[in-house]
Amino acid sequence: MKAIAIIYATREGHTRRVAEHIAATLIAHGLSPELYDLGADPDPVTIHRFAGIVLAASVHFGRHEAEMVDFVKSHRAELEDMPCAFISVSNAKAAAERTGTTERQHAQFAAEVESTIARFFKETGWHPRWTMPVAGALVYTKYNVLVRFVMKQIAKRTGAGTDTSRDYVYTDWAGLDRFVEDFAAAMPVAAR
Ligand SMILES: Cc1cc2nc3c(=O)[nH]c(=O)nc-3n(C[C@H](O)[C@H](O)[C@H](O)COP(=O)(O)O)c2cc1C
Repeated sequence: MKAIAIIYATREGHTRRVAEHIAATLIAHGLSPELYDLGADPDPVTIHRFAGIVLAASVHFGRHEAEMVDFVKSHRAELEDMPCAFISVSNAKAAAERTGTTERQHAQFAAEVESTIARFFKETGWHPRWTMPVAGALVYTKYNVLVRFVMKQIAKRTGAGTDTSRDYVYTDWAGLDRFVEDFAAAMPVAAR
């Protein structure tokens, strides 16, 4: 049975939680995931060993993690040869999903999500068959004083939580499960 690689890049750790959740969903569907953190090893796997690949990266200052950009650039041809999914974790997606925003705000956040992903695809030249933007988290308890202050100002503007004594997780886990189930269903027989 060939495994599914879940390769992720994270700054504050939320994308690791997303990757672990994806792994649990794949296991529940009879598949065998292996997790790799690009922050620990920038080139951790031989891609052709796997039946499929899930790449997950968060967004900071309008860009996905540099180590993910480098990894995809280095392995684009191999990635194009196999079933691949890309998960983009951001708080623009959280803002786009939030109820209570105006139609104009919603359109603005949705456009930001799209343009950030489009930038990643343009930078890497890679176009995976499956792509999903996922709402991230505000981890005030992990930020330094300056980042906490800036993130709170952004949160006020976007309708996110502003109590800096706690963290906020905006990920739609059920929506992520549906995406992973579609991906799992498309895995070749070798993965089972
Ligand atoms: C300093 C900083 C900058 C960020 N910049 C963006 C951004 O440009 N766009 C966005 O949608 N989210 C932005 N975020 C939100 C992160 O994408 C979100 O917190 C995500 O969950 C982080 O995932 P990670 O913990 O895996 O790194 C930023 C967060 C921080 C702390």
